[in-house]
Formats: sequence, C-alpha cells, structure tokens
Amino acid sequence: MKYLIGNWKSNFSTHEAQEWIEAVKPNMRTVTDKLEIVLCPSFIHLLLFKLNFPNLQLGAQTISPFGSGTYTGFTSSYMLKEMVSYVIVGHSERRTYAKESISDVDNQVIQALDMGLTPIIAVDKENWFAQLSLINKDDMSKCIIMYEPPEAISEPVGKIGQGTPAPVEEVVDMIRKIKDEFTPKAAIYGGSVKSHNIKIFIEQNEIDGVLPGSASLDSAEWLKMIQIAIQVVSNQ
Ligand code: PGA
Repeated sequence: MKYLIGNWKSNFSTHEAQEWIEAVKPNMRTVTDKLEIVLCPSFIHLLLFKLNFPNLQLGAQTISPFGSGTYTGFTSSYMLKEMVSYVIVGHSERRTYAKESISDVDNQVIQALDMGLTPIIAVDKENWFAQLSLINKDDMSKCIIMYEPPEAISEPVGKIGQGTPAPVEEVVDMIRKIKDEFTPKAAIYGGSVKSHNIKIFIEQNEIDGVLPGSASLDSAEWLKMIQIAIQVVSNQ
C-alpha cells in the first residue's frame, strides 16, 4: 500500500474549499486498491469533506498533546476521532512557528494512538533519531514516518524553501536509515512534491508514499497526482 497525502496547511476560506471540492468532484478517486488517498485540510473544512466525500480518508494537521478538557483552543484526539483517521504531527512548520518540542510531538503521538488515529510523524535529518526513539516500540508499527527536509518545502522565494525537492537518492537513503532503526507502518517523503515529480518518488520501493502540500491546493494538480500515483502502483 502506498500513500498520497495532501496537506492544505493554513489555506482556503470555506468558500474556496467548496470551490475546490466542486472542481475535483467529477473526477476524484477516493478509494483504490493499492493507494491510500488522504487529505488534510484545516479543522474547519473537515466536515465539508466528510459530507462531500464520505469515503475519503481525512487527516488533521496537528492535534492537542493533552486530552479533552480545560485547554482552550486545542483540538483533542477525542474530538477528532469521528472525523479523521490520520493526523500529521511534528511538521517542521509546527516545530518552528508553534515551538513544538520533541516531547510535545511525542505526547501528540500518544494522544492520537489512544483514539486509534494514525500519526504521520514528520522528521528531518537532525531530529529523526531523537524523535523516533521516544516512541514506544509496539506503537511504532502504528505510525507513518514522513521524512521532510525543511529546505525542500515550497515557499515563495526568500522564505524557508524554494520548491526544489530533496534528491530522490537522499530520500531513499534517509528512509533506509529510518527503517533500519525503527519499524514504522510506512515511511513517506514530503517537500515540493508536484505532478511533474511525484512518479520518481512514489515508484521507489523504499518510499511508501508522498505528502504534497502546495500542489494539493491546486485542484487540477491534485487530480493529476492521483492519476499518476494510481498508474505507478498498479504497475508494481
Ligand atoms: P510542499 O509542502 O509540497 O508545498 O513543499 C509539503 C509540506 O510541508 O507538507
């Protein structure tokens, strides 16, 4: 099973989300044999997706490191469990802008697993070992690891990254290292994945999937990436 996971990040009004949904609806595949298609919009768009695509797998972009209760502004795993099956934790943007530490991320993993959600744990070359070492061995098989070097993330020129993905050899090498030390359910790549380069990543045996961010906001790009990924997995 390979994964195609879209990350909308902090984008789209409700109206724009609705327009995107209308644009993809006629051609959107939600369930396939060998490809798990997941979309991670913001919390506020989740219900819209649930109503429009009842079979699409959904993910959250973060989760509270606490349980439910007196934590104003946090969204707990209990609140999310009827809405999503996946949750991205430790994205480099969360680590940078929300100052999330490896122990915050570990607590998020614990909360997610407690409600049966699959954590997608984002790591880079610096933090992967320390982050993944915190996770209970038995829990690791329930987690997806995403290797994402922050400099590979698409951003306007002058910001964190400029839209150049990591070389596929580097990604394969990192994923091998991760899989040599740990035994996750899957290990995927994120960082400037688009329709023109998705094939090279998804066709590698070691890479179990990809997580495109900005390319998932473009309805035509999203449909194209689904189409290419289905083609690749059906030839494997
Ligand atoms: P990008 O984002 O595809 O726009 O680089 C990926 C991510 O950071 O989730």
